[in-house]
Amino acid sequence: MEIRNGEIYLGGVSVEDIASRFGTPTYVYDEAKIRANYRRAYTTFKKYYPDFEMFYAVKCCNNPAIVNILRQEGAGADCASVNEILLAKKVGLSGTKVMFSGNFLSDDDIRQGLESGVIFNLDDISILPRLLKFGRPEMLSFRVNPGYGKSNVGDFVTNAGPGAKFGIHPDKVIDAYRMAKEAGIKRFGAHMMTGSCITDADYFPFVTGLLMDIIGRVSKELGIDFEFVDLGGGLGIPYKPNEPALDLDRAARLTAEMFSRKAAEYGMKAPQLKLEPARYFVGNAGWLVGRVHSIKESYKKIVGTDIGMNTLARPAMYGSYHHIYVNRKENCPRETLGLCGQLCENTDFWVKERELPANIAEGDLIVVENAGAYGFGMSYQYNGRLRPAEVLINDGDAELIRDREVFEDMVRHTHVPERLNQ
Ligand code: LLP
Repeated sequence: MEIRNGEIYLGGVSVEDIASRFGTPTYVYDEAKIRANYRRAYTTFKKYYPDFEMFYAVKCCNNPAIVNILRQEGAGADCASVNEILLAKKVGLSGTKVMFSGNFLSDDDIRQGLESGVIFNLDDISILPRLLKFGRPEMLSFRVNPGYGKSNVGDFVTNAGPGAKFGIHPDKVIDAYRMAKEAGIKRFGAHMMTGSCITDADYFPFVTGLLMDIIGRVSKELGIDFEFVDLGGGLGIPYKPNEPALDLDRAARLTAEMFSRKAAEYGMKAPQLKLEPARYFVGNAGWLVGRVHSIKESYKKIVGTDIGMNTLARPAMYGSYHHIYVNRKENCPRETLGLCGQLCENTDFWVKERELPANIAEGDLIVVENAGAYGFGMSYQYNGRLRPAEVLINDGDAELIRDREVFEDMVRHTHVPERLNQ
């Protein structure tokens, strides 16, 4: 993002241009930035652990154009559901380039996952006998809850530890692999995903040590060679101005050191190291462009925009901070204002107090930063406020990659019994 003569440019395209061509609210992604983020993460980890592969967790931003960019860079896909597996397939990713890390799977999920030939990260031992009813995968991985997790987003996205719904309790991991081995499965991996948005580099080697201690013992006791260990995602980005960024080099170096040291300690054949980040690739490469429609003087001054908890759920859902810029007003004097969306819910009052340009006015464009991750994917149609458009910028050109929803999308798939039409 840059500001030229007061006007905000995203990937070289002015927000006025974007708003006039595509309307608001619109998600905007910068292709070059996504590629650069991927390459930085890949080369840094690869430098310290050459047998390294990355998967993109599709849930983060599931537009096929975005998944394709990451596929072109070499990423596989981490999928949470059969539909995400189908999406990965649609962009040309299948077999061992796809991880299925869903939880509390239904029989249908299991059957279709098996048919698609992807790698399962089974979230619980209880799913194994159900899976074996449908077939025996050549390779299997279990998601381990190593007993600890954390997140800058708060407890909401702490995905491991005693309070988490994910993964297998450390004491049960050995039984899970024993059962799989006895069932004739020959090739194994291991997985964890302990938390999202972590900017503390030392966290990554710490949880890696916890996981390796658990699966190292499994390897020793059951004589299993783990072909890969997937440390999940979690590489964080700063959301607030002046918040320190993750020291990626330190995270990679210390994680690789811990990984190799623990593998050697337990006499394991060096497994492949996998990561499945998502926010790190797309978070700061996406913005949400909206417009101020109405300003009210009530108990305080409240600025109403077409960006609300339906288009960007994170602030209302987790209390997350997203920085806001006002086009052509960034250098103007500021006052403390509130900012909200158009839903009939007070949680939609998603910025209670923020220093914003005092002369903000109807018609102004606002840009919400770091909206690429868990933005569009978590949007919904409440109050008949439909999902935004998505636009991809490449080489100074903006292309529509998802149409803005229209009324037909709101009633699609609904059925009114004939008697109710009378
Ligand atoms: N792998 C698995 C199995 C996951 O569940 C996730 C995210 C990732 C990888 C990617 O994690 P990342 O690198 O993006 O941290 N909606 C929340 C984040 C939820 C994360 C869910 N799992 C937010 O808006 O902050």
